[in-house]
Amino acid sequence: MNRGRFITLEGGEGTGKSTLLEALRERLQMVGRTVMVTREPGGTELAETIRNLVLHPPEGQVWSSMAEALLMNAARTDHLEKKIRPALAAGSWVLCDRFADSTRVYQSVQNGVGVEVLKMLESSVLGETRPDLTLVLDAPVEKAALRRAERGGHADTFELRDKAFHEDVRQAFIDVARSEPERCVLLDASREADEVAQNAWHEVESRLFELRQSLSS
Ligand SMILES: Nc1ncnc2c1ncn2[C@@H]1O[C@H](COP(=O)(O)OP(=O)(O)OP(=O)(O)O)[C@@H](O)[C@H]1O
Ligand SMILES: [Mg+2]
Repeated sequence: MNRGRFITLEGGEGTGKSTLLEALRERLQMVGRTVMVTREPGGTELAETIRNLVLHPPEGQVWSSMAEALLMNAARTDHLEKKIRPALAAGSWVLCDRFADSTRVYQSVQNGVGVEVLKMLESSVLGETRPDLTLVLDAPVEKAALRRAERGGHADTFELRDKAFHEDVRQAFIDVARSEPERCVLLDASREADEVAQNAWHEVESRLFELRQSLSS
């Protein structure tokens, strides 16, 4: 059986990751792919427990960036082992709402963990399981904040940080996308949701469907 493809969605809060994920799921299923949708931090029972611990620490408590990096990677290794790798091996296409690039970004900005340490953790945890495609959603911070406010819901530890933090996050995602153009695509997420989905689908088709054809020929 062919291995599935691994697609990750990245970007700041409220840029439209979860919305795009659903649109991609529908399209992939329409063309006959088996799709497994998941998210980070989380995706397995243990990783969801860690998610809650990291995103909603006990009141008044703050994790250091290093502690966050270790917790995110602990959650990720469980997720990869129990869910992502088995799904890919069974031929599913895996769509993951945030993945390793979010750790590169959130745990490094504003005097966070050094890039070399994050890289070492990342490569130990991921091994060979790297995303085939990463869609990085980029939108002005104010616009994303407005969308989030309209959506409502409880804010987590990162959403509560100030505008400067979110500007740094935005820039760090742009830097990740530019540093690995063969894996990452930077999408203008300030457009209408349908247009974002269309642009994303174009990338999926051109990068992953052609790759599959050339591999099997
Ligand atoms: N392109 C878009 N244009 C306008 N509104 C959008 C667009 N994409 C998503 N939205 C709306 O903005 C809100 C945030 O979108 P969504 O939840 O998909 O973002 P997210 O990146 O998953 O956020 P979070 O980081 O908080 O999980 C939702 O109410 C959604 O319906
Ligand atoms: Mg979301």
